[in-house]
Amino acid sequence: MAKEVNIRKVAVVGCGFVGSTSAYTLMQSSLFSEMVLIDADKARAEGEALDIKHGLPFAKPMNIYAGDYSDIADAAIIVITAGAAQKPGETRLDLVKKNSAIMKSIIGEIKKQDCQGILLVVSNPVDVLTNVALKASGFPENRVIGSGTVLDSARLKYRLGEHLSVDSRSVHAFIVGEHGDSEIAVWSSANVSGIAVDDFCEMRGHINHDKNMRAIAEQVKNSAYEIIEKKKATYYGIGMAVKRICEAIVRDEKSILPVSSMIHGIYGIDDVVLSMPAIVGKDGVETLVPISMSSDEVEKLKDSAKTLKEVLEQTK
Ligand code: 2OP
Repeated sequence: MAKEVNIRKVAVVGCGFVGSTSAYTLMQSSLFSEMVLIDADKARAEGEALDIKHGLPFAKPMNIYAGDYSDIADAAIIVITAGAAQKPGETRLDLVKKNSAIMKSIIGEIKKQDCQGILLVVSNPVDVLTNVALKASGFPENRVIGSGTVLDSARLKYRLGEHLSVDSRSVHAFIVGEHGDSEIAVWSSANVSGIAVDDFCEMRGHINHDKNMRAIAEQVKNSAYEIIEKKKATYYGIGMAVKRICEAIVRDEKSILPVSSMIHGIYGIDDVVLSMPAIVGKDGVETLVPISMSSDEVEKLKDSAKTLKEVLEQTK
């Protein structure tokens, strides 16, 4: 019989830069009272667990340990970060063959545990691997989500906040589609606390909308390339994004987040995993929020879906 889910328990599979930073961020969040770290290299997981535990006197009590797959049976959320990371010059999609094989073997282990928790896929290419995890696990679609463009949307809010000298939390804007080169900044619905982004730009003395918006979207899209070129990996931003998604689930916040999930019929897109704003709560993705988009944005979204479908074929 399946073990009952412990809403205070999280598992992190993969203890590389992204996994360990996510674990460190989750430790500080006080969302969980138990966290199991799993890595193919057990000593690595043990080392990370020890290091993170030593911060507990400065945070809240929590049981953190290196474990194996039997320890995830009752986890509310299983964060999967395992896989090869992007190297300078590589795209996320270049990782697909290697990482889909790793994902299938991890899901095989998870399935044996009869888990009722939510799978949160973070490994890249995240949309394709979320699709692989969904199909391989046989879990219901609401319980298999990817970190998607939550990070890209945060990067967009950050850059817009900086450009407009306003708190990035007052900026409401989404990146949708692939977490990668075909992603789309949805300018048509972007706003600053209800004020259309173009109007807010004018208030702040910026008039070259198209040029500026294009430059900002390009910077956001290329952020990971720039960081990887400079420091070999990205992990702090994604760690915060993982924490934000876990928070929405554990606290049943029903927050609108652009996580990656299975799409059926939005703008004619079907049977592909990509990011669209979704209501996220205790059951994972509750429902998608099909924000209004211009016809140009819709065309780009369809292209992004097509790219992802083609790459998915390579995993079969
Ligand atoms: C990022 O966007 C590489 O997907 C990772 O930072």
